[in-house]
Amino acid sequence: MIYIDDISAMEVMDSRGNPTVKATVTLSDGTKESAIVPSGASTGKREALELRDNDKTRYLGKGVLTAVENINNDIADELMGMSPFNQAMIDAAMKGLDSTSNYASLGANAVLGVSMAVARAAAKSLDIPLYRYLGGANAMIMPTPMLNIINGGSHADNSVDFQEYMIMPLKFESFSDALRASSEVYHNLKAILTEQNHSTSLGDEGGFAPNLSSNEEPIIVILEAIKKAGYIPGKDIAIALDVAASELVTDGGYRLESENKTVSSQELIAYYESLCEKYPIVSIEDGLSEDDWDGWELLTQRLADKIQIVGDDLFVTNANILNEGIEKNIANAILIKPNQIGTVSETMLTVRLAQRNGYKCVMSHRSGESEDAFIADFAVALNCGEIKTGSTARSERIAKYNRLLEIQSEIVYGQYLGATLFKS
Ligand code: PGA
Ligand code: ZN
Repeated sequence: MIYIDDISAMEVMDSRGNPTVKATVTLSDGTKESAIVPSGASTGKREALELRDNDKTRYLGKGVLTAVENINNDIADELMGMSPFNQAMIDAAMKGLDSTSNYASLGANAVLGVSMAVARAAAKSLDIPLYRYLGGANAMIMPTPMLNIINGGSHADNSVDFQEYMIMPLKFESFSDALRASSEVYHNLKAILTEQNHSTSLGDEGGFAPNLSSNEEPIIVILEAIKKAGYIPGKDIAIALDVAASELVTDGGYRLESENKTVSSQELIAYYESLCEKYPIVSIEDGLSEDDWDGWELLTQRLADKIQIVGDDLFVTNANILNEGIEKNIANAILIKPNQIGTVSETMLTVRLAQRNGYKCVMSHRSGESEDAFIADFAVALNCGEIKTGSTARSERIAKYNRLLEIQSEIVYGQYLGATLFKS
């Protein structure tokens, strides 16, 4: 019987140069696998807790040595000797070690690192790919990527209020064709921005971060780039937004700094409606704040039959909160970020709940990432159909796309959903 022989952790760095957790699991058959945990910037209030040392003498207080120690001691003591092939039991054992509801004592960064490393080691030991181990024979859908090619909000130092302007390649035969077209749009966008004397420096997720004069202008330049690359906006390639509106909340409404105005939920919803009429927008994420549930009800009533309405900070990958959303008829899609909830099993549970209730699932990176491409396999395993993992620049984003290209070459009959995702 193969069992977990050793668990250890160390502090490494993420793509922003902040410390994060790397966990390593060794099995009794000699298999040794690791995982690195990502980290968000515009985090939801109800996310599982990312444990930081708060020791100002190291990494400005952002060290993760306590989380590392929690893995080396409590978690290792609990899991050593257990079978790596029962993911639910492994994850439940870690949950049992932490008496808080949000992993505040062990740290979700400690727990997720081990959870992912165990899954990876189990798959390796069985000599099957991670997506096949986690998804079984049912894993066959190549996700449609959402590529964040203009960064704003808290991911960039520019004047744009909305956090993410993404392209979604719809009308393509395969994931690789979709990715190629997206890269062509990205390069054309760079040329257009240069021509217009805008900065082409990059934001945290690999998109450009130009100082544009309104929240609408990024959409206009992206549409131009799509055309310049030889594609038809809306037909071949559409637009998706992540407003990250929790970050815009101010006294009396939502602050749109670049337009020097503060608006109510109703006004913001009306603005989205007008944007959707003017432009080929197929998806809006976090259009309102995580606390504005009345606003979300209205937003859903007004737009959910036309476009995808995604809850990120709103649902924080939490099955209980998603359940409330389902009951109240809020949103029609959920962003899936494993570190918002803490373990591989809990993430799978939330995806299952979403899919059973007709909610689309978008697997997602965080703005602070690493070379770890776990989410690429995870998206395919769970047939998410969509993945959000940045632009076609910065190696921590490309790692996920390259892993998906590899997976595509293995799943010969892997289906690319593209436009069919948005057919009702
Ligand atoms: P975050 O951003 O990782 O900084 O939270 C990603 C998102 O909001 O989708
Ligand atoms: Zn988001």
